[in-house]
Amino acid sequence: MALFDSFFKDVGIDLGTANTLIYERRKGLVIDEPTVAAINTKTNEILAVGDKAKKMLGRTPAHIQVVRPLQNGVVSDFDMAYEMLRQFLRSIAGSFGFRRGILGIPNDLTEVERKSVEDVAHNAGVAKVHLVESLIAAALGADLPIEDPTASLIIDIGGGTTDIGVISMGGIVVSRTLKTAGDRMNEDIIRFFREEFKLAIGEPTAEFAKMSVGSAIPVEEKLEVAIRGRDLATGLPREVIAKNIHVRAAIAKSLSAILEAMHEVIEETPAELTGDMLRQGVVICGGGALLRGLAPLIEKEASVVTHIAPEPLTCMVRGLGRIVDGYEHYGELLDNPLKPIDIQL
Ligand SMILES: Nc1ncnc2c1ncn2[C@@H]1O[C@H](COP(=O)(O)OP(=O)(O)OP(=O)(O)O)[C@@H](O)[C@H]1O
Ligand SMILES: [Mg+2]
Repeated sequence: MALFDSFFKDVGIDLGTANTLIYERRKGLVIDEPTVAAINTKTNEILAVGDKAKKMLGRTPAHIQVVRPLQNGVVSDFDMAYEMLRQFLRSIAGSFGFRRGILGIPNDLTEVERKSVEDVAHNAGVAKVHLVESLIAAALGADLPIEDPTASLIIDIGGGTTDIGVISMGGIVVSRTLKTAGDRMNEDIIRFFREEFKLAIGEPTAEFAKMSVGSAIPVEEKLEVAIRGRDLATGLPREVIAKNIHVRAAIAKSLSAILEAMHEVIEETPAELTGDMLRQGVVICGGGALLRGLAPLIEKEASVVTHIAPEPLTCMVRGLGRIVDGYEHYGELLDNPLKPIDIQL
């Protein structure tokens, strides 16, 4: 059995709205690329996936289309999603292919949406697909004691979704998934620039502004950056200086929506667990956790000590990795539990 182990590959896949990460059993993180694909619409040929494709966003000629095949954690372009994943997998494949893949999914997906994630992985070359609640994987990646009869509040702010949940004894006790996350903040910034500065900017530029000068609370440092776009009146290129206060104003509503959902989750948490949560603290992960000042804002709003998970962008895939490396122990967390015979492999 151990011999086969080295031929067949088992992987954990975080097919995120913004980024796709793959963890290979006993190896570690092997793929970390944007969830983007570029296609030649004349020939239907995939031109690039991942980083290469992302660089083409907003700058391609008419016959090249750059797509993000996931929206808000849901597969929106099935063919592009599996072609992209197939290319990622091909780049790490050995001669025997992929025996098993564990994917994390938001816990409010419909049956049809779950099936489509499963089919994407199948079509991309994974023989057996298992799904696990992404918050459970993220909590494992953050090293939270998820199997104990205590409670942890975890908030995963990704590109397309924010998942908020209280986890106790390996299960989700209360949760909310909202479609307000990093992408929405980028859209907020695009709208702000259009309305306040009469300047059209693309998504990558908005994201750049968010990362370079954005924050969730006022900051002491002076944050400013030059942003270039197209003047809406003249149609000509123009530059404005984006300040922290601009980005803060732009994303304020989205942040309130996240805080509101967090309050709802806390209110619905059984009183016994609220006490545990207080001891354990709140953990935030996902790329959105890197927004300046977000942890202090959440800490103030929840009145609970808040930490950013180590390496928030890889938190969930590292949690999937722990499951992939330890089926024996974590098999029961999977939606579609592994048969004992599989576990012994
Ligand atoms: N330093 C930063 N400051 C603010 N936002 C950031 C920073 N770094 C990354 N982000 C944002 O994090 C988001 C991507 O995070 P992540 O990779 O966790 O999402 P995802 O898992 O692909 O999406 P989802 O979980 O919603 O399907 C993007 O919207 C990006 O703009
Ligand atoms: Mg994610």
